[in-house]
Formats: sequence, C-alpha cells, structure tokens
Amino acid sequence: MTDTLTIRCPDDWHLHLRDGAILKAVLPETVRHFARAIIMPNLVPPVVTGADAAAYRDRILAALPDDALFEPLMTLYLTEETDPEDLVTAAERGLVHAVKLYPAGATTNSASGVRDYRRVQGVLERMAAIGLPLCVHGEVTDPAVDIFDREAAFIEHVLDPMRRATPGLRVVMEHITTREGIEYVKTQGSDMGGTITAHHLAINRNHILAGGIRPHYYCLPVAKREEHRRALIAAATSGDPHFFLGTDSAPHTDALKEQACGCAGCFTATNAVSVIAEVFEIEGALSMLESFVSLHGPAFYGLPANEGVIQLAKGAAVSYPDRIETAEGSVTVFDPGFPLHWSLSGREMNSMSQTKLSE
Ligand code: DOR
Ligand code: ZN
Repeated sequence: MTDTLTIRCPDDWHLHLRDGAILKAVLPETVRHFARAIIMPNLVPPVVTGADAAAYRDRILAALPDDALFEPLMTLYLTEETDPEDLVTAAERGLVHAVKLYPAGATTNSASGVRDYRRVQGVLERMAAIGLPLCVHGEVTDPAVDIFDREAAFIEHVLDPMRRATPGLRVVMEHITTREGIEYVKTQGSDMGGTITAHHLAINRNHILAGGIRPHYYCLPVAKREEHRRALIAAATSGDPHFFLGTDSAPHTDALKEQACGCAGCFTATNAVSVIAEVFEIEGALSMLESFVSLHGPAFYGLPANEGVIQLAKGAAVSYPDRIETAEGSVTVFDPGFPLHWSLSGREMNSMSQTKLSE
C-alpha cells in the first residue's frame, strides 16, 4: 500500500484571497501547500488596472508569513472600459498572468463585469495576439435560465461564439461543474483549459439541500447532480492536460454565509490537497495526482513546474480546524463529508523566489 507520496509543489490556478484582515488570515492556509496561485480580482472595488494589480500584489506579499515562498500571479478584472494598452503593458511586465471575465451579476462582486460582449472584443483580440489567457466564470445571468443549466447555456451562447470570433484566444473555463463543461473543454485544442475545484470533486447538490440547507456548501457555479460530479472526477483523474486544479477557495465570514441570503463560496485552502488526494485514491488514481495539481496548470500558463516538492503521508483520519479566525469573524473550512487520510508531511521549497517584475 502506498503511504507516502512525493509530488512537485502544487499551484492553485484560481484563488480568492480578499484583502485586509481576511487576506492576512487565509494566506497562510494557501502557502502551506501551494507555491503559486492565480489571484482573483473581484475585490471591492475590483482590480482593473495594472496599477491596481501591482498594489494588490504588494499587499499580498506584505501579508505573507515569515519565510514563506509564494508567488501571487495577478489577474485583471475585465470591464467594458478596460484599457487594452494598460493590460498589455501589465502582461508584458510579467505582472498580470490572466484576465478574468465575470458576466455582470453572475456571482460575488461581479457588478462591474461584462454585459455587452461586443464592447470587450477589441481587448480579447489584443489578448489573443499576446497569448494572455482569459479566465471565464462560465454562467449566463439570464434569470429565465435555471441555475443548474447556466453553465451549459454559457458554453453554447457565449463561450463558443466568443472563441470562434477570436481565434487564438487562450481561455480557461473556471470551476467546471457539468459534464457539458468537461465535454466541451476536452474536445478543444491546446488553447482551451479548464479548472476543477476540490469541493466540486467532493459534493453534489444533495449535500447542499437534502436534510436541511447547508450554506457552507453553497458556491457558484452551484454543485450539480452526482452524474456531473462523476464527470469531473473522470476528467481530473484522466491525465488529460486540459484539466488542472483551481480551488476557487472563497472565504466569507460565517456571519455572511449563515443568513437569509448567504454569500456564495467554499473555503477550501486549508484542506483542498487532502480532499483531492482522498478522491483520487478512492478512484485508484493517485498516480494522476501530480499531473492534476502540479503539472498541467503551469504547462497551460507557459510557466515551468515548481522545482520544490511536497510530501504527503497517509495515516489515521486527519483533522483540520472547523474554522479559522480572522479579525472580521470566523471562516468555516470546507467539510468534504468523508474522512481524509492524506496530509502534508514535508516540503522542500523552490530554490527560486518570487519573479522579479520588469520596470
Ligand atoms: O462561489 C463563489 N465564490 N463563486 C464565485 O464565482 C465567486 C466566489 C467569491 O468571490 O466568493
Ligand atoms: Zn472564483
């Protein structure tokens, strides 16, 4: 029986760190396992310019625990007013690694997102020309479309037409939750990737709604039927380089989750790697873990895999804190609903430190 695993240090290709007190409290949870992360720009106000991204990056680096080696890979929030010159300059400096598309109104802090896709076509063409990836929150916002169908509708009505209109645009379909999403991504070329979260590998929609409503399982896109979870597991464990880990770990305080209109987001930074290792082991696919969490993401983003490694050890059930405390209140850690056995037992850091940005 395998009871230790050594893999290249993982990266998180979709992460919410927030700012201020929450940033300070959640960042150590991520840097324990991950060497780099794509940092989501949906702050209030959002990270829309290169200057915003540089300032946010500085705040993240200032919030790092002593001795932590972690590289935040910054993103810009696409608005209908995004300045393509500013975006290209930020990308060419090595500051910005992707641009995030939120359809306006689709999720947390998406009000400044895109309503009319024609108004961002010029920016998308510049991005295609320089190879800068677009990360998409793939849900339509039409209230007439059922919430469980919004991802499939987005592929048909927005994503596929956008990609056809913008040849060469590199796109990551973020947090895929459906079989339709998996089928679409895997049948595209190498300019298309897809992230999958730990929580969508672990739960289906019954976990949210059966036997009582569980706000800590509510996120967007919302978890779907079991058959869709099976499709996500099949893709993640397949070795297909289209698919890589993006946790979408999204901290909200318990006060904001546990109310009549609770916020969307599962906080998984603490235990995502353990959850994924457990799911992969149950599938008999531990040999595919490294490619999903550590290799496919850097390959898509044109970055080297990390030099450092982590060791995971298997033992009696691992326990994680139920919640972490922040100066703004507690944040509940995702409970996968099954015991976890794999935990971090060692780490050799990357020899390289944060990338120096050009002036
Ligand atoms: O569940 C989610 N939470 N989905 C998102 O798209 C945004 C995120 C957040 O920022 O809280
Ligand atoms: Zn997200």
